[in-house]
Amino acid sequence: MNERYHEYKRIIEKYLSEYFDVSCKAPALLLDSMRYSLLSGGKRIRPVLTLEFCRISGGNPDDALPVACGVEMLHTYSLIHDDLPCMDNDALRRGMPTNHKVYGETTAVLAGDALQAEAFRSILLSGLPAEKRAECARILADAAGVDGICGGQYLDMLGEDCRLSETELRLMCEKKTASMISAACMMGAVVGGADDRQISAAESFGRNIGLAFQIRDDILDVCGADAELGKPVGSDVREGKNTFMGFYGRERCEQMIAELTDSARKTAAAAFSDSEFILELADELMKRYS
Ligand code: IPE
Ligand code: IPE
Ligand code: MG
Ligand code: MG
Ligand code: MG
Repeated sequence: MNERYHEYKRIIEKYLSEYFDVSCKAPALLLDSMRYSLLSGGKRIRPVLTLEFCRISGGNPDDALPVACGVEMLHTYSLIHDDLPCMDNDALRRGMPTNHKVYGETTAVLAGDALQAEAFRSILLSGLPAEKRAECARILADAAGVDGICGGQYLDMLGEDCRLSETELRLMCEKKTASMISAACMMGAVVGGADDRQISAAESFGRNIGLAFQIRDDILDVCGADAELGKPVGSDVREGKNTFMGFYGRERCEQMIAELTDSARKTAAAAFSDSEFILELADELMKRYS
């Protein structure tokens, strides 16, 4: 498991670090700001999922690399904007000062905007057949837009002034977090040539581990350690956020994570024959500390 994860990470880091080198005419400081956040580490979970779902769907993971890295660019944009003073107002990300603390708010906003566009460019300029490129771009747009990250982040902001219902809390997390993790899995499956049943399994697997991922994130925001997390503990309480921890407490949250992970594992095992790595990854994510 670790060996494959590291190999995937290696090709992801290489692609991302070389992406803006080729005759890029962007203003130097804007580019610095984009690369600062994009190349600052991060677990790279979403692109790893894309590469692995491509592989277990019968494809070559290398073919999915521009798509996988597009997902990471989009995710990085969402983190830059999430940390802004008008959003979560955080000063630390991936163990470093947040983008706006280093480059200022205006540059941080534009770096995020540009990374979102570049995510689609990376997919659309890949060597994949046109139908696969179009389908991946559609999946990414769904997960990024009003029904995905933006819609979820909007609900997250709305909840700062009031208590959301349990249904709204779940919806908020499905949109802001699970949608992109699910999209990462689906796009890998599409590139790898999965059939409809497998694509739907990839969607469901991603949605369930995505929700578990946000519940763990909420737990770590209370019980984690800044140094390990690379971001500040206590941010959610300070900002008056609606979180799974606030609603259910630690014990029930742990139980929900276990149930969601179990359901995800069953879905993946039923739809894909070579699912060992993906099942282990679901377990690792369930137990993570960072
Ligand atoms: C953080 O995502 C934002 C959430 C959706 C909870 P990650 O925990 O994947 O952050 P990085 O990419 O590893 O920094
Ligand atoms: C953010 O959720 C999800 C995104 C879409 C970026 P959080 O606000 O809890 O993520 P962290 O804890 O800052 O990484
Ligand atoms: Mg947030
Ligand atoms: Mg945040
Ligand atoms: Mg959080």
